[in-house]
Amino acid sequence: MTGAPDIIPLAEPDLRGNEAAYLAQCVRDNWVSSAGPFVRDFERRVAALAGSPHAVAAVNGTAALYLGLRAAGVKPGDHVAVPDFTFAATANAVLLAGATPVFLDVTRETWTLDPALLEDALARQTPPLAAVIVVHALGHPADMDAIAPLCARAGIPLIEDAAAALGALYKGRRCGSLGDAAMFSFNGNKTITAGGGGALVTANADWAERASALSTQARSGTRYRHFAAGFNFRLTNVNAAIGVAQLERFEDMLAAKRRIAGTYDRALAGRADLRPMPRAAWAESACWLYSVLCASAADADSLVEALKGANIETRHFWESLSRQEPYRRAPSRLSGVCAELSGRIVSLPCSTHLGQEQQARVVAALDAWRGARCKDAA
Ligand SMILES: Cc1ncc(COP(=O)(O)O)c(C=O)c1O
Repeated sequence: MTGAPDIIPLAEPDLRGNEAAYLAQCVRDNWVSSAGPFVRDFERRVAALAGSPHAVAAVNGTAALYLGLRAAGVKPGDHVAVPDFTFAATANAVLLAGATPVFLDVTRETWTLDPALLEDALARQTPPLAAVIVVHALGHPADMDAIAPLCARAGIPLIEDAAAALGALYKGRRCGSLGDAAMFSFNGNKTITAGGGGALVTANADWAERASALSTQARSGTRYRHFAAGFNFRLTNVNAAIGVAQLERFEDMLAAKRRIAGTYDRALAGRADLRPMPRAAWAESACWLYSVLCASAADADSLVEALKGANIETRHFWESLSRQEPYRRAPSRLSGVCAELSGRIVSLPCSTHLGQEQQARVVAALDAWRGARCKDAA
């Protein structure tokens, strides 16, 4: 008798490089806290991959984004534009800075910030926007050539939430180098992980210094003297050790994500009931978490259930933040796109070490499942 097939997980880390050796090195050398050689190495590598001169490592992406907002001068009472389609951490970092998120809708083509709505908000929003956070959703770049000039003209900082966009290219330029500062996440479900971790990158040396100081209680020198109220947000050497081992294999991991995405894209081509996640012609997405758009929320539920029955792990993806209780009273400019997407997106297994046979099993399960005609299908 054959048993049930193995579970195919949604997205698991691949720790088969130098992770264990570097962790052992941390213990052997007695560098387990936030000082230590791996932290600096991690920062150097992230800065290089982002094409940015400075990187500041932090305990997670949310903290790095908060540090970026503070470094950019965002203060309590300010209003900061964020896309309605994002992970809650984007808006939560704004709230942590004492500011108010202003939710702007995304485009149907890219699921990223709609430049037309940003232009409208910059012209009409009161109080005026103090900063903009753009999100490269699922590792797909936002349309920066349309967005950056609007921020420059308004004289306000543009911060990239590039949580999952390390390695993504916008018209050949690296995500992370396209605004005034950018954040990456190294959470366990990202293409590469540090266990938990984040980084702020910027070309502005003053911002980097300020963010770094704020991440270590804003202490100046070796005495207990503080120039501001800071935090303990610095990444530990232990986490950085995992991060460095992962970064050593970054190109292979990114290539694997893109290969897996290409296989799903081809499998879905021509289907009217499932649409692959966006891929603009001008973008080379980092293809973080491969996701599909179903015809309806009911179809998405049905797909999740069908694949669960085949021992395949999937997950519903982000929903409109502005409609949820903690954010409902925040200002917004919405076109209805994010509301339309909400509940209809399902993420499929895409660990970097997903085997060909495993992916073939997922594709077979998708073939076996048929939904209603997708509203957005051409
Ligand atoms: C778009 C986005 N922003 C922010 C974050 C927060 O990063 P972290 O979980 O490292 O705090 C994430 C994490 O998944 C994310 O996807």
